[in-house]
Amino acid sequence: MVYAGEILVRKDAGRIDEINARLKLESMPGTVGIAHTRWATHGAPTAVNAHPHTDCSGRIAIVHNGVIENYLALKKELLDLDHSLASRTDSEVIAHLVEEYLRRGEQLEQAFRRALQRLEGSYAVALVSSLSPEKILAARRDAPLIIGVGKGFNMLASDITALLDMTKEMVFLHDGDMVVLTASGYVVLRIDTGETVERQVKVVDLTAEMAEKQGYPHFMLKEIFEQPETLRNSLKLQTEYVDLLAELLDRGRTIFLLGAGTSYNACVTGSYLFSQLARLPTLPVIASEFIPNYGASIGVDTVILAVSQSGETADVLSALEYARMRACTILGITNTVGSTLTRVSRAYVLQNAGPEIGVAATKTFTSQVLVLAKIALRLARLRGKIAQYEIDEFNSWLSRIPQAVSEALTRVNEPVRRLAESKVVFILGRGVSYSTALEGRLKLMELSYIPCITYPAGESKHGPISVIESGIPVIFVAPPDEYRKLNIGSIMEMKARGAYTVVVGDALDQELKQLADYYIEMPKIHPLLSPTTYIIPFQLLAYYTAIVKGHDPDKPRNLAKSITVP
Ligand code: M6R
Repeated sequence: MVYAGEILVRKDAGRIDEINARLKLESMPGTVGIAHTRWATHGAPTAVNAHPHTDCSGRIAIVHNGVIENYLALKKELLDLDHSLASRTDSEVIAHLVEEYLRRGEQLEQAFRRALQRLEGSYAVALVSSLSPEKILAARRDAPLIIGVGKGFNMLASDITALLDMTKEMVFLHDGDMVVLTASGYVVLRIDTGETVERQVKVVDLTAEMAEKQGYPHFMLKEIFEQPETLRNSLKLQTEYVDLLAELLDRGRTIFLLGAGTSYNACVTGSYLFSQLARLPTLPVIASEFIPNYGASIGVDTVILAVSQSGETADVLSALEYARMRACTILGITNTVGSTLTRVSRAYVLQNAGPEIGVAATKTFTSQVLVLAKIALRLARLRGKIAQYEIDEFNSWLSRIPQAVSEALTRVNEPVRRLAESKVVFILGRGVSYSTALEGRLKLMELSYIPCITYPAGESKHGPISVIESGIPVIFVAPPDEYRKLNIGSIMEMKARGAYTVVVGDALDQELKQLADYYIEMPKIHPLLSPTTYIIPFQLLAYYTAIVKGHDPDKPRNLAKSITVP
């Protein structure tokens, strides 16, 4: 808060209600203030890393949502200029940069704008200063920021849900906007040119609960449609941690990729990526089977990369505890800062997918695959298994994933009713698409409660094809890879036995299109990265099948979001 010519800061790490009870945040004096609940990306969730962050003089305080990608370079520059930074966050550099421009004689608003121009990455940032105690300065780039327009007051927030109790009149700031806010008004200007712009006030006629779901009837659907954005965030991973994981993986003699449910399926995708890109064989393993299957044979040269959205899954943690006692190296990929997995891992990477509320994992699967692909690429380079032009090419495929996912989200899914009426569904794939099939099966099964059978398509003749009879749906995951011809053979095989064949394949593949009873067109994508995009129709099919059958997609029966018992 800004009060009596000073900035008062109260902050801590922990649960919001406990911090509030301890620090009495609500009783802070003053009428101009900023606050932030930090979702840690750089630096652990500690009091010193909590927001707000102040400059050296204590005259400026900022809160920031996003990732400042060039913070290391900025930090070095600021340290060379005798600034002293207290935290390990990327955000703190913003306060000191503004201070630096003030030192050079700029006025506060101009200093803020100059500082913003130096930032690379994403931000919704708000600043208060004892130099202008009646104002809040704020700005956005690649992160949401909304003004709530009230009678006798104005507010800012990243999400309309935070404002709806106070006002329904909102101004949605555009990327590259900066705002100067007071209790009686606001001025919006462009960060790059400084010119002022008009932004319309919109009346948002939603309840807080509707807004939390952003107009979607369920969290699951919201999270499915969020994927282009979450994937863009996951692309901005801190490369130093990816590098560290790659180095530690490369030192192992035996490498396990360990997870449960969806996270295990991502591990299966990972094993194909590690093998095909980096020529590194790894063993994907279901967490609850790790000790019985491999417990007796692990040791100091075993590396385990555990994948867990929550970082709290009991089966994962007990496998890791067992491995830790035997001096194995533990690495982690998780979506949850401060989770047990982050504490027991020698090194970990955060997925940056944001909170997932729906019990069914959707956006966290695609982001896990993307993180694994980045690690695999790094490993390939480290091990000298890939030429520079191939690295560049693969990187450009990686950066196209969010767009491909956006396109996949527009595809219609007619077979829903047909699936909803089926007593069993087959989902088949070969190569990396086997992992897509595994995850497709899990989604369909946990939401529609229809038994689903999945195995690598080449296994049909070894037994399961005897189940096929007229009308049973068989869904093939068939991107245009080296298994295309074999897939055509498998589809014919199923058709010959009366199966209803659905094929998820490339939009331009006319031959497959003609062969399938129903064809779901996918955009062009590198076949090894296809799980990120080819899983989308399964997520949508699962969601709509649940709706048709009258199930709650956010809370499938017998399941919980985090399985913290073995
Ligand atoms: O938090 P985790 O990733 O460790 O959770 C693992 C599984 O419990 C989870 O993926 C579960 O299978 C989901 N319901 C899948 O949609």
